Amino acid sequence: MLGPWDCSYRALLKTRECVLAIPGADLLAKTVAIGNCSGAEVDKFAEYKLTPCLAAKVKAPLIGEALKNLECKLIKKLNINGGELFVLQGVAAWHNPARREQRTFHAKGDGTFFIDGRQVNLRSKMTRWQDCI
Ligand SMILES: Cc1cc2nc3c(=O)[nH]c(=O)nc-3n(C[C@H](O)[C@H](O)[C@H](O)COP(=O)(O)O)c2cc1C
Repeated sequence: MLGPWDCSYRALLKTRECVLAIPGADLLAKTVAIGNCSGAEVDKFAEYKLTPCLAAKVKAPLIGEALKNLECKLIKKLNINGGELFVLQGVAAWHNPARREQRTFHAKGDGTFFIDGRQVNLRSKMTRWQDCI
């Protein structure tokens, strides 16, 4: 979620591109801390000891410690019921197989989180979507 009060919101509208970094479960506490301050006040890379890495197709940096990084271009901003929805197109994707922690986490929206659990392999059923696997 982003709003005009966020530095990221203004940067996204100005540059029309961004990186969505997906942290592993080992970075959960750090992610919450990063989500509770603003880049307008702190240099988040320095404060949270994150490594900016060169992206292939956008100017925004990747986060070296993230599990995955998605380089995106802003396609459209839609106004829906007083809220704003950003439509992004992924132009490059990175996965970091060297991270020991490969689980991701999911916010429930009330300050609590799920961490990935059991993995279920249904690749044999994905007959229509061979390109995805
Ligand atoms: C766990 C978590 C919960 C968040 N909840 C909200 C929220 O309720 N409302 C909101 O506007 N942003 C929420 N955010 C987004 C962050 O506040 C925001 O993306 C970021 O801190 C803004 O930093 P910036 O000013 O550098 O862009 C949340 C982020 C995290 C990680």
